[in-house]
Amino acid sequence: MARSLRSAQAQGGVRRLAGKDYDQPMSAAESELPAAERRELLKEVFSQARVCTRCPELAATRKTVVFGAGNADADLMFVGEAPGASEDEQGVPFVGRAGKLLSTLLEEVGLKRDDVFIANVLKCRPPGNRDPLPVEIENCQGYLRRQVELIQPTVICTLGNFSTKLLRGDPTGITRLHGQAEVLILGKRAVRLYPIFHPAAALYTPRMLETLREDFVRLPDLLAQGAPEQPEEVPELAEPEEPPQAAVEQTEQGEDAAADQLGLF
Ligand code: URA
Repeated sequence: MARSLRSAQAQGGVRRLAGKDYDQPMSAAESELPAAERRELLKEVFSQARVCTRCPELAATRKTVVFGAGNADADLMFVGEAPGASEDEQGVPFVGRAGKLLSTLLEEVGLKRDDVFIANVLKCRPPGNRDPLPVEIENCQGYLRRQVELIQPTVICTLGNFSTKLLRGDPTGITRLHGQAEVLILGKRAVRLYPIFHPAAALYTPRMLETLREDFVRLPDLLAQGAPEQPEEVPELAEPEEPPQAAVEQTEQGEDAAADQLGLF
């Protein structure tokens, strides 16, 4: 099931993703579910992701599928690139050095990790921390799409180039975009997209850390603006497709790993 978040188009002052995934999102009934029910659906998506074998190399080399962690009804969602070694070990996103910086920056603006949801473009660690391959991003994006649909954040903060380019459906890089919020239509909902530098990039470059801090300081104001004006309901075009089940193998080992991670969100 090839799905893509293709190019974004400006539509009436907001950006709308033109890709099939976000044009045929969850049903209206599903989008109006209370948070507890959306969380249950998120757990179902997780149980599919945790045994995913769509990327044979990643499935063979990973220790854990790092689905995401935090508040499943968060107003603010962060999207990073891919798990590193510590995340792969622990099954939790952003727990290594970049993650510690992310936690510090959150605290500095009065937020806690438990207040937000943190996910990545890829749910599996690329070997040697290499960059995600286009085919891996393609394979994995359905999970991110479902996370966004079910969590329903008002602000999505993309960390670095990979998540910014994917969600905007545009190759413009983070150096040009960081610190500038825009309204983007993802599926049925409008969100405030806020690209910032990836914390890993700021670890060794003091000037970048300064810029990241300045961009972080704007987050509370952005959150205080609340959800952007929502698009009018569009008629259903088709039944939403199932997540990529064909590539999923149910294993007993996967069941155990799931039980360990369900407390993460
Ligand atoms: N970098 C990322 O992009 N994601 C993580 O989870 C950890 C480091």
